[in-house]
Formats: sequence, structure tokens, C-alpha cells
Amino acid sequence: MIWWENQFLEAKGGKLYLGGREAARIAAEYGTPLFVYSRKQVLANLRALERVFAGKTDLDVRICYAMKANPNRDILRLLEAEGAWIDAVSPGEVRAAMRAGFPPQKILFTGTSMSPEDFRRAFAVTGLTVSIDAFEQLEIMKIVKDRWFRRKAVRVSVRWNPGIGRGFNPKVITAGERSVDGTPIKFGVEGKKVLATFQKAKDYGFVPVGLHQHLGSGWVKEDLDEVTKAAAAMIQKAAEVERRGFDLEFLDFGGGFGPRYLKSQGLFPVAKYAAFICREIKKRRLKIRALAVEPGKYLLADAGVLLLAVGYLKESYGNLFACVNGGTFNTLPRPAIYLQAYHEIVHCTRLASKIRRRVTVAGNLCETGDVFGKEILMPIPKAGDILAVLNAGAYARTMASHYNLRPIPKEIII
Ligand code: LLP
Repeated sequence: MIWWENQFLEAKGGKLYLGGREAARIAAEYGTPLFVYSRKQVLANLRALERVFAGKTDLDVRICYAMKANPNRDILRLLEAEGAWIDAVSPGEVRAAMRAGFPPQKILFTGTSMSPEDFRRAFAVTGLTVSIDAFEQLEIMKIVKDRWFRRKAVRVSVRWNPGIGRGFNPKVITAGERSVDGTPIKFGVEGKKVLATFQKAKDYGFVPVGLHQHLGSGWVKEDLDEVTKAAAAMIQKAAEVERRGFDLEFLDFGGGFGPRYLKSQGLFPVAKYAAFICREIKKRRLKIRALAVEPGKYLLADAGVLLLAVGYLKESYGNLFACVNGGTFNTLPRPAIYLQAYHEIVHCTRLASKIRRRVTVAGNLCETGDVFGKEILMPIPKAGDILAVLNAGAYARTMASHYNLRPIPKEIII
């Protein structure tokens, strides 16, 4: 078995199969570039995450899908039908989740740099829980509430910044004072302001129901120690909040669990992390009724691929390029944006070929950084061959733009 094979991807007779169908045939039928998603793999990922919590806690476990990873309507509908909740970060995401069938009671709205209009749209949705990102936001929230929603019970939670963050790239470390490249981190309420934020929220007529954190994205094995420290800190903070007389309904530990992007990558041990959280909550005797996590990548990344067709091979100054019919920014911008983002690229019909060369898979945009993979050891492709970029289910289509006035590809779900 090849390391990336799963319920969706299969290597058979040197060919890549997607949900039992030859990838190259799917490409011929629908055209390329093309996103292909798998219902079966999304479900397998959801069940796997449910299993790590099973039997470890009596609390209600809410798996809040971070829909920013992939807001495709069919994916949302599938997850709704299977009992997931939603982490939404804009009024647009809240609306899309509701259109897909999620009741507002199952949506946590975690916005940042929120405008009065954002709050107005959020408070209008009865039952939604709004996560407060700044003590200072409360003044705007009060104005909006007093003006339009004076008598409405608006549920809020507080997103705090525990001072510890973790992520695969400086741009997606979302807690701590500064990211590893020095960028000041804009998210969350710092520890010393958390109790005051709860108090003021209550004084202003909101209903505080939860404490929330999100540390970053793309955790690997080595991140376990730091993220459990942050989880312990949050549980301790929750105990403090309860001692002050607030009745917390839930603790939300955010997302961040990485899928496997690289063969050599140590996978984040989600089961150990879940066991730790459940144990700590019990130990502290919190009165909460639910715990939440907000996975994006974990549920979606390996449930999608991007199919690209090779137009021609080019050799220049000793570099070999496979020039493909899509651009990173229009399809899967991660490798162009984040230095550390790696996506495995698979030749759909010559998987077994022993003759391999270092190939740079070049997109069709006018930027040097527009490469899907740099000097990847792969079977030499020829014109018309189909390549599959793996782990394209999360943060791909959703981050794509029309840069260079190139189209954004179609998506199919199987
Ligand atoms: N919860 C909150 C509040 C978030 O901001 C995020 C992601 C998540 C949950 C889900 O994180 P995940 O489980 O997917 O790691 N564009 C980047 C990822 C940005 C993530 C931003 N926040 C990438 O392509 O790697």
C-alpha cells in the first residue's frame, strides 16, 4: 500500500483510481483542471475523529467543521446529515451553512475584525453563538444590540489567546504574542482580560456560554506537547470563569490537526490529544456540558484531489518542467503562498514507472512562484498525461482566485 492510499485513492496496476474509477478517465470525461472530492473519505475522517473521543467522556462532543476549508454545498450537506456542527467565520459562511441545512444552534461564528454590519447580521440569526475576539469589540456589540436586538438573547463565547500557538507555517499560527516570523498575532483575548470580557458581555445583556481557542493549523506529531499545554491552560481558565459564577455550556479547543501531507511527516496523535482533554476536564470537575473541536484539514484535505493535464515538457538551464493547464492561484494556492506547504503529485497512469526524474510542475500564471511542486522525483510525464495533486480537499478551491483572468475549476463529488 502506498502511504497516501485511503478510502478514496487507490493505486492499481500503475494507475490512480478515485473512488474506484480511473482518475485519467474522470479527467477525460469532465475536463481539467478538475477537483474531485470523496464523500466516503470525508465520512471516514469524521468517524475517525468521533472514535477518538468515544468512551472517554460523558460530555456532548461537537465536531464543528471549519467550513472555510471547503464550503462546497454537497460537502456541507453531507456533514450536516452526519451530525457535524459548524465553525463559520463570516456572515457569508453562516448563510451558506444555513442554506445547506445547519440550524443556527449548531453554528459557532468566530469572526475577527468584525464590523457593526457583521454583528448586525450575526445577531439577526436566532440561536447562533458569536465568539468574541476582543474585549474592545464589546462596545460595538453593545451599540448594535441596543439598537436592533435589545430584547434578544444573544449567545456569546470568548475566544482567548492562551499565549501558546502552533502551526505548520508562521502565517497560520493563531495564538501567542507573535508568530515565529515576528508578526503580532491578532486573534483572541489575552489571558488577563478574559474574566473582564465575560463580565462586560453579561453586563451588556449578552449570554456568555463558552470559552474558545484556536492555536493554528497543520499540527504534526511534534506539536503534541505544546498544544496539550495550551489545552490544559484553557481548562484551567474555564475553571476560573466558572468560579466567578459563569455557567459555561461548552469549551471549544479549535482545529489544527494535520492530515498527512508528506510521507516522512509524523502524524499528529489526535487520540492522545483527545484523551488528554477529556481527562483534564474530568480532573478539574468543570460543569460544562459539551466540548467542541473545529477540524478543517483533518476532515477534508485527503478527501480531494486536483487533476491537471500536462501540456508539454520544457527543459531550461538543466531544469525540467511539466507545464500544466492550471495555475496555483486559481486552483490550489497553498504551495505558492506558504513556503512549507507541500502537496504530493501523482502521475495518474504511470505510478509504477521506475524511470524517474526531478520535475518541477509549473502552472500557467505569470509568477515564478506558480509551481505546484518543485523538483519532484516522478515518472517523466508527456503531453496529455494527467497529474493528480493530492490533499486538495482543504484550503484549495476556497482560496482560489481569478488571477490572470484564469477560470477556477469545476468540482465534482463522488
Ligand atoms: N477554527 C478556527 C477559528 C480557525 O481559524 C481555523 C483555521 C480552524 C478552526 C481550522 O483549522 P484546521 O483544522 O483546518 O487546521 N489557509 C491555511 C489554513 C488557514 C487556517 C485558518 N484557520 C492553509 O492552507 O494551510
